[in-house]
Amino acid sequence: MMKHYSVLLAECIEGLHIQENGIYVDGTLGRGGHSKAILNNLVNGHLYAFDRDMDAIEESKQYLEKMSEKVTFVHTNFSNIKERLHSFGVKEIDGLLLDLGVSSPQFDEAHRGFSYRFDAYLDMRMDQSQSLTAYEIINTYSYHDLVRIMYQYGEESYAKQIARKIEQRREIKPICTTFELVDIIKSALPTKVLNRKGHPAKKVFQAIRIAVNNELEELQKALEDALSILKIGGRICVISFQSLEDKIVKEIFHKVSRNEKVDKRIPLLPNEVVTPPYKMITKKPIVALEKELMENRRSHSAKLRIIERVR
Ligand SMILES: C[S@@+](CC[C@H](N)C(=O)[O-])C[C@H]1O[C@@H](n2cnc3c(N)ncnc32)[C@H](O)[C@@H]1O
Repeated sequence: MMKHYSVLLAECIEGLHIQENGIYVDGTLGRGGHSKAILNNLVNGHLYAFDRDMDAIEESKQYLEKMSEKVTFVHTNFSNIKERLHSFGVKEIDGLLLDLGVSSPQFDEAHRGFSYRFDAYLDMRMDQSQSLTAYEIINTYSYHDLVRIMYQYGEESYAKQIARKIEQRREIKPICTTFELVDIIKSALPTKVLNRKGHPAKKVFQAIRIAVNNELEELQKALEDALSILKIGGRICVISFQSLEDKIVKEIFHKVSRNEKVDKRIPLLPNEVVTPPYKMITKKPIVALEKELMENRRSHSAKLRIIERVR
């Protein structure tokens, strides 16, 4: 198994407030670091471990199954949480963990096509059984859709220039590889941008990846559904790695935990004061401590938000 570091591990386990007989969901199994820690805290409870990546399921299954029979592996998108749990007869959960984004093995395995550091076919699918790939987006989406994706999901200021270059190149021949895409991006950027710190293709690769995997919509649905099946006292912990994801988590958590605005001039009896059904446990997101930051590069952009159902 590859060397692996689970981000904000202790903070997540503490944040979940694990009940030893509870039902938990790890929506992003990956290489199983968080799942293993959850299992270590269960006595008669059960863990449902979801991942849309078959490699993640197969690798983690090998060692987690040996460690415990309290785990069920589910190869699906975490946005299917409610339906899939229902098929197992589970209607309520005590907690959910989401450690979002691409895993280190996904990034580091060249053939997955996630990284601008390796030359590979333009794939970028987390779920290898899905049909939409980065190749299809780059070679068939309209100029306007490409601009929208790069601008919205990558905050790329040169989205129009890059989309124009993509259009010109694909008229000559299909754009097949990550390095071809990197070349096109570089050819569209002014020297002052190319000389900046950081890789010039970073924003576009993030944007295409988000579009291929429909990441923001899946997150929104998963959170709304998970909140609806959370038991009283149950918690949801989400680690995000970029501002678009964090914004979704923050807005949904805020919406369900804020007090309704009441007209202060109308006096209310105590039994008329309605408290919100959820309580935000983290007013500000939890970030990694110095020690973790020194040990793991990925932890630098990690933000953990936690919410609890209170009624
Ligand atoms: C950062 S890794 C998780 C690492 C894991 N916590 C660990 O300790 O090894 C994210 C994982 O979530 C999966 N993933 C991302 N979005 C998903 C989604 N919408 N549904 C299911 N799995 C998803 C990815 O395939 C990847 O394996």
